[in-house]
Amino acid sequence: SDEELDRRIRAAKATLGDRLVILGHFYQRDEVITYADFVGDSFQLAQAARARPDAEAIVFCGVHFMAETADLLSGPSQSVILPNLAAGCSMADMADIDSVTECWEQLEELYGTEPDASGRVPVIPVTYMNSSAALKGFCGEHGGIVCTSSNAATVLEWAFERGQRVLFFPDQHLGRNTAKAMGVPLERMPMWNPRKPLGGNDAEAIQDARVILWHGFCSVHKRFTVAQIDRARAEHPGVRVIVHPECPMPVVDAADEAGSTDYIKKAIERAPAGSTFAIGTEINMVQRLAAEHPEHTIFCLDPVVCPCSTMYRIHPGYLAWVLEAFIAGEIVNQISVVDSVALPARVALERMLAAKP
Ligand code: 13P
Ligand code: SF4
Repeated sequence: SDEELDRRIRAAKATLGDRLVILGHFYQRDEVITYADFVGDSFQLAQAARARPDAEAIVFCGVHFMAETADLLSGPSQSVILPNLAAGCSMADMADIDSVTECWEQLEELYGTEPDASGRVPVIPVTYMNSSAALKGFCGEHGGIVCTSSNAATVLEWAFERGQRVLFFPDQHLGRNTAKAMGVPLERMPMWNPRKPLGGNDAEAIQDARVILWHGFCSVHKRFTVAQIDRARAEHPGVRVIVHPECPMPVVDAADEAGSTDYIKKAIERAPAGSTFAIGTEINMVQRLAAEHPEHTIFCLDPVVCPCSTMYRIHPGYLAWVLEAFIAGEIVNQISVVDSVALPARVALERMLAAKP
């Protein structure tokens, strides 16, 4: 029963004390968030992974790429545990190392490998945090960097200082929305088409590209529409519409603001009491914000509940299981990135952490 699980998790946490830290992403359900020692967006959770070097283990209540990142950034003797190994991210799965390598080789054929007169290389690869460690490693090896939704513009600036163009994967929407806000015209953001190799892609557009987009997207954020925003404005005059930058471009353009999960949270916290918000992001987070802020009216843009089904795979039952196993001396569901990938992946992550806004 829920009560029994609650009792077991609390008892395990009390037994473990500071030996173990539980991190939770904003999209986790309340029944999991209640046990988290730290809750944040993916950038904050990456920082949190190294904030407790004394802890023997980090239990990551989030998805696989986040746990991998925690493993990359935590100490060598710390273990990272993902309570349910089936908690992946469908967007992260839309780019794999083989297809990115193939794309890269074709771009090298197109643009060559020589820097221009000001020392900028032909292409800088930028991977969204929502990607496998292998892709972060690819970026580390090829002069590239990682970004999250909270620092994408800073990271793109970093990349434009060093490269004539950017190859951005896997999320086309974050890439497009961020580059557009920085003044890159849409016609200079062609999308790489893996089914049309070199020559089949629009060669002219690729030649003139500033940002080459990948075809990935988030199935949760893809659901938000301009019609939903129009309806929210009609039904709630004065409503502030805030969406996540993983939403399609017309939705971000129609919204009042776009930002990471932490940006959304802070915008709500800063608002005068009595504000009304329509939010375009995952439902568990929106419902929690609504419950935490009874002084505001907060609702999800999508009237049909839209959870992230993979985030939802972290259930208190799994949490109880991994904690009790740890007490018994067994580390279950450990996420460990092999050294050959971890070394270059850390380089790309460190570049992100050092990039200044
Ligand atoms: P944040 O970086 O805003 O936490 O978003 C992570 C994510 O997976 C959004 O879908
Ligand atoms: Fe991945 Fe979308 Fe879920 Fe975020 S909300 S973890 S991008 S599937």
